[in-house]
Amino acid sequence: MVEGVASFYSSLSLTPKGRNTIRLCGNIVDRFSRLDSVQAAFVAELGIKMGQASHDRVFQLGQTPCTDLCDQADAAIIDDKAVIAPATGSASSS
Ligand code: FES
Repeated sequence: MVEGVASFYSSLSLTPKGRNTIRLCGNIVDRFSRLDSVQAAFVAELGIKMGQASHDRVFQLGQTPCTDLCDQADAAIIDDKAVIAPATGSASSS
């Protein structure tokens, strides 16, 4: 029964978590933005999959249904702080 409760709530875990939490939006709408490449960069850099902690337990990488940054695509929540990827391309001015 304890295992069922622990697996239901995302704030609980059956395995040790990383000290710093990186959360990306898991909503399909955000998948149309560059978020997949942002996620791929975190996965490659940390050498872990989504939902896992880094081997040194410094980082925890996971998804959330919404980061509350819907209007700012390619954003992540790192330790409860919003981090927004810079826009690609630039508007030219003359
Ligand atoms: S639905 Fe993705 S940030 Fe809100």
